[in-house]
Amino acid sequence: MTDQAAALRELISSLRTDPSKQTETSGPSGKTAHIIAVTSGKGGVGKSNFTLNFALELQKLGRRVLVFDADIGMANIDVLMGVRSQYNLFHLLKREKSMSEIIQTGPNSLPFVAGGSGLTELFSLSEEDLLYFTRQIEEIAQDMDYVLFDTGAGLSKETIRFITASDECIVVTTPEPTSITDAYALVKVVHDLESEARFRLVVNRASDYREAQQTADKIRLVAEKFLRLDIPVLGHVSDDPHVSQAVKKQTPFSIRFPNSQASKDIQELALRYTQHSLQVRADSPKGIKGFVRKLLKR
Ligand SMILES: Nc1ncnc2c1ncn2[C@@H]1O[C@H](COP(=O)(O)OP(=O)(O)O)[C@@H](O)[C@H]1O
Ligand SMILES: [Mg+2]
Repeated sequence: MTDQAAALRELISSLRTDPSKQTETSGPSGKTAHIIAVTSGKGGVGKSNFTLNFALELQKLGRRVLVFDADIGMANIDVLMGVRSQYNLFHLLKREKSMSEIIQTGPNSLPFVAGGSGLTELFSLSEEDLLYFTRQIEEIAQDMDYVLFDTGAGLSKETIRFITASDECIVVTTPEPTSITDAYALVKVVHDLESEARFRLVVNRASDYREAQQTADKIRLVAEKFLRLDIPVLGHVSDDPHVSQAVKKQTPFSIRFPNSQASKDIQELALRYTQHSLQVRADSPKGIKGFVRKLLKR
């Protein structure tokens, strides 16, 4: 077993036994992790920074979170944390490593699976390989409250699969018109394919609350009118130069600059999320079992 896997197990057991790390407003109950895909229409809108810092804040609230870098081609969660990834999904699929061995830990012992060349392979595996992968992911998800997938931007086949397989999809947009129209396009395509997909909006890089609200309203109104779909707003993260400074230092902004506006926003957002989290029952077709089944269905 690697050091990272040992650290992960330690973290999981400490969260289990330390009641101070569990809050009243409990997250999803049951034994299955809640699967969240974080995505966007346009690239470069702040998905990876959001995923990472949101995960860290959820962890601070006592939740057990696994971050999974599923951005095929542009995987970089490890770079944002300043951690050199040794292993990724590729090693799992090649049966060189087990799931607990490819899980590494970042700052605050945040468990994560690095992206890599493995993901495209995931969609062309033999039945036997799929079964192996399914068992591995189910085992690890038992110990988690949330699994957050940082997906690629746009409408690739892989990204759409991750989104439709997840329990919910957080769509990140900025106030720029191109980001807004691309976010709506993404929602529309996914909704047409899977009308039960659940979305929530995050407006990143807003100059203030008003701009965030206006941005969200544009998407919500169109979705309501043309898709008859309600997309609740999870919150916004301010445009804040500390984010870019933290990226350059390869440290998550919520750790490097905990008092910055962006950090305060994401703290508030994570708290609100835990208070309004969707409940997933262990026997529901969603959760990790439903996720794996849908992800791999051909
Ligand atoms: N809230 C923010 N305020 C200021 N700059 C931001 C913010 N969020 C993201 N950025 C900038 O955008 C860049 C891209 O962010 P990233 O999370 O890598 O986007 P994506 O994963 O969507 O491609 C960051 O390196 C940072 O410079
Ligand atoms: Mg990214």
